[in-house]
Amino acid sequence: MLNWLDEATFKIGDVTFTLDYMLGGSKRPSDVKNFTMMKATNFLDKYLSLQGKGIQKVLELGVYQGGSYVFLDKLLRPARISAVELETKPIPALDRYISENRERCKLYYGTSQADVDALERIVRDDFDGELDLVVDDASHFYELTKTSFETLFPRLKPGGTYIIEDWSWSFEPSYQDTSHSWFTQPSLANIFIDLAEELSINNSVHEVTIGREMIVITKTTAAKQGPLFQGKGRRGRDLQLL
Ligand SMILES: C[S@@+](CC[C@H](N)C(=O)[O-])C[C@H]1O[C@@H](n2cnc3c(N)ncnc32)[C@H](O)[C@@H]1O
Repeated sequence: MLNWLDEATFKIGDVTFTLDYMLGGSKRPSDVKNFTMMKATNFLDKYLSLQGKGIQKVLELGVYQGGSYVFLDKLLRPARISAVELETKPIPALDRYISENRERCKLYYGTSQADVDALERIVRDDFDGELDLVVDDASHFYELTKTSFETLFPRLKPGGTYIIEDWSWSFEPSYQDTSHSWFTQPSLANIFIDLAEELSINNSVHEVTIGREMIVITKTTAAKQGPLFQGKGRRGRDLQLL
């Protein structure tokens, strides 16, 4: 499926993807034949494993230069794909891709992953109220990530997949320097505790897999699913925010 040209570039059909991380974060702008993806090769396996699983409705949070959006679309061939992106600066190559596929593809610039009304509207209008896959590669901040999860996980179909990328930044030395702009942000690893609580007291989360690159949360197929985060505060007895 992926036709590798070198360690940082591969093709799917006639579109090339350049893995920005492999180039040390080049920040190259995408062009219509060669999209920049802010991922390393070790991120790709999970997405490859989702092929053939009948994923039809995909929502991505955070597009950067649009490489991951086009990658998910080419790889999974969903019926619909939409994304939100906080920045308002256009990404011309992605805009062109979307306009050529406007029946299936949408992008909402200037929209935060924590804008609950916008997310609910997008799920309703673009996906008839239900999703197969959510990929959160947006802020990587705990509170915003949790807000997206609280809003979107209940909209996943039974057995659906929710991915949170790059959860581990707070453990890296550079982020522990007081001069880092993220220093005061709570660790995204706090979401593990929330998810552990859901696994124990709620039957809507089937499985949580914590990998080096991402957290993968699978929704249960149980017909009856309880609301999320009803145990709020319970963990405060013995666990502290990181
Ligand atoms: C890591 S990059 C995304 C990389 C892209 N998914 C890829 O793999 O090529 C994070 C993106 O999320 C956007 N972002 C940051 N905070 C956000 C927020 N609160 N809501 C939505 N997008 C956000 C950034 O502007 C940036 O484009």
